[in-house]
Amino acid sequence: MTRRRILSIVFLSIVLIPITAILYHRLVAAISSLGKSSIAHMATPSSPPVIVVGAGLAGLSAAYSALQAGAPAVRLLERAPKPGGNSIKASSGINGAPTRFQNAAKHGVDESFWDDTVRSAGTRLHASSVAEAVRSHRQGLISTLTGRSASAIDFLVDLGVDLSVVAQLGGHSKPRTHRGAGKTPPGAAIITTLLNKLKEQHADRFELLTGAEVTKLITEEERVTGVEYRTTTATTTTTTTDAAANATTTTTTTHTLHGPVVFTTGGFGGDTHGLLAKYRPDLAGLPSTNDPRPGAHSLLSAAGARLVDMESVQIHPTGFVDPASPGARVKFLAAELLRGEGGVLLHKGKRFVNELETRERVSEEVMKLPSLEEGGLRQWDVQMVLDPGAAEAAAGHVGFYLWKGLLRKTKVKDLDETTRQTLLEYAAVVRGETKDPFGRVAFGRWKLGLEGGTGPEEDAEVCIGRVTPIVHFTMGGAVFNERAQVLASEMGDEEKPIPGLWAAGEITGGIHGDNRLGGSSLLECVVFGRIAGEQAANAALERGKLG
Ligand code: FAD
Ligand code: SIN
Repeated sequence: MTRRRILSIVFLSIVLIPITAILYHRLVAAISSLGKSSIAHMATPSSPPVIVVGAGLAGLSAAYSALQAGAPAVRLLERAPKPGGNSIKASSGINGAPTRFQNAAKHGVDESFWDDTVRSAGTRLHASSVAEAVRSHRQGLISTLTGRSASAIDFLVDLGVDLSVVAQLGGHSKPRTHRGAGKTPPGAAIITTLLNKLKEQHADRFELLTGAEVTKLITEEERVTGVEYRTTTATTTTTTTDAAANATTTTTTTHTLHGPVVFTTGGFGGDTHGLLAKYRPDLAGLPSTNDPRPGAHSLLSAAGARLVDMESVQIHPTGFVDPASPGARVKFLAAELLRGEGGVLLHKGKRFVNELETRERVSEEVMKLPSLEEGGLRQWDVQMVLDPGAAEAAAGHVGFYLWKGLLRKTKVKDLDETTRQTLLEYAAVVRGETKDPFGRVAFGRWKLGLEGGTGPEEDAEVCIGRVTPIVHFTMGGAVFNERAQVLASEMGDEEKPIPGLWAAGEITGGIHGDNRLGGSSLLECVVFGRIAGEQAANAALERGKLG
């Protein structure tokens, strides 16, 4: 071989081939990114709509992101007469970390959200019997949830939701639950903003149909291709001038709709006599924060989905017992932020728990106390006390609870002696003079006894209300993955996504394990709702290309 030939081979392999490879890769990347952006606008007349089932936060997030991703249309089907589901009732806020609203100067940069969530998941994640593949699946979901939390907050704030106030809820090691500064509770603020944006920005491609109950997922060769839903119309035949005597007939019509499906029908905490009685008959006697309504889990199972963790039902420690109707099954929640901002829990005038432990632990401690039978329900007699600092920090909520008669104001000097003594001792803990026997280390904005020196000011006003443990949230649901695909395989087995079907929100299972942290449900709705919507939009566009 001549010297010149050897030199040209060396030149080729060292210089030309890598350069060609780099250029080739750049070209491929450019072509595929061109493809992506053009796919987003390539809806063809045969592109089906994305079908979203359930108009709570997960459904609205999915609908919005599907439209942003170029879905030809979104049909949002909602069984109730109004959208919002349980999401619209959310009272404490949505988690995110690290965000610009957190006080990093005071608390340090928040890097512990993943750890707190993993810890809170308990035995479902940590028991020695848990297979490695299951653990890794659960941890993957938690990584997606916490890792995308800051961008979920940005997404909502960019839409115009105020999330500038941050509180520390139970089981969290830092304040990271975001809400607005005004009177509108976070659930209502988020839902109304998203609905308005959907209507304003996507009026031509977005349709919300209320009173539309999905009764079946249509499958063809193990692929979900659409839904069956029913609507009911009432017709009054006018035969007399007496309106009450005219006959009203109702007609139920069944419809079919084809397209990729995002399933966001929420949990079963309000399905007292159905799924709750099946999976947790022991909880049937407890009140609930959830709207009474049947779970839709069987529709997913019929399409091949697996369910997981169905026995893990969250008991929130503080549902308000309304003195005017103590036996009411559906109760207002005493939002956890009341404890986060400083509220304490007393039984017979004494504290008995670290109020900022996880819900699971606080509820356990309450339920060790003697219970009462009221209106056929099992309830407890625990008082929540807010000092002026906590009441001021949660003023929007407190005003509403006072107006509803769920909280009442009283002066410190009018409290019974045991309660006064408890507040005196607690103030010393907050001042840092003594250690809390229950291990509480975050005190929110409690100020009673801090300014006056040794104890509570006698003329200061505190707010008091009775609370009881209450069925609140269902951790179990459909097995799904980080791409929000619903799986026909058990968690930990080789994944078998059901083509054409995604899910998000409380209907899904596996993220929270034994216990969900406060503020992480709204978060899962936004994080996985957005993922599901985008995936379903891409599927609709792909189907359109096939004609
Ligand atoms: P939902 O909001 O419940 O929406 C599901 C919708 O699907 C409903 O409108 C339902 O009617 C509809 N649907 C069901 N079946 C069908 C069907 N077959 N066909 C058509 N439609 C159907 N979480 C937080 O993170 N932070 C909080 O501060 C907070 N506060 C809360 C306060 C209260 C009082 C309650 C009850 C819950 C709170 N939660 C909070 C929990 C959280 O609000 C819910 O878990 C979450 O919003 C569930 O959202 P989702 O979209 O999955 O379901
Ligand atoms: C609450 O306000 O206490 C509910 C918060 C939640 O469920 O995440």
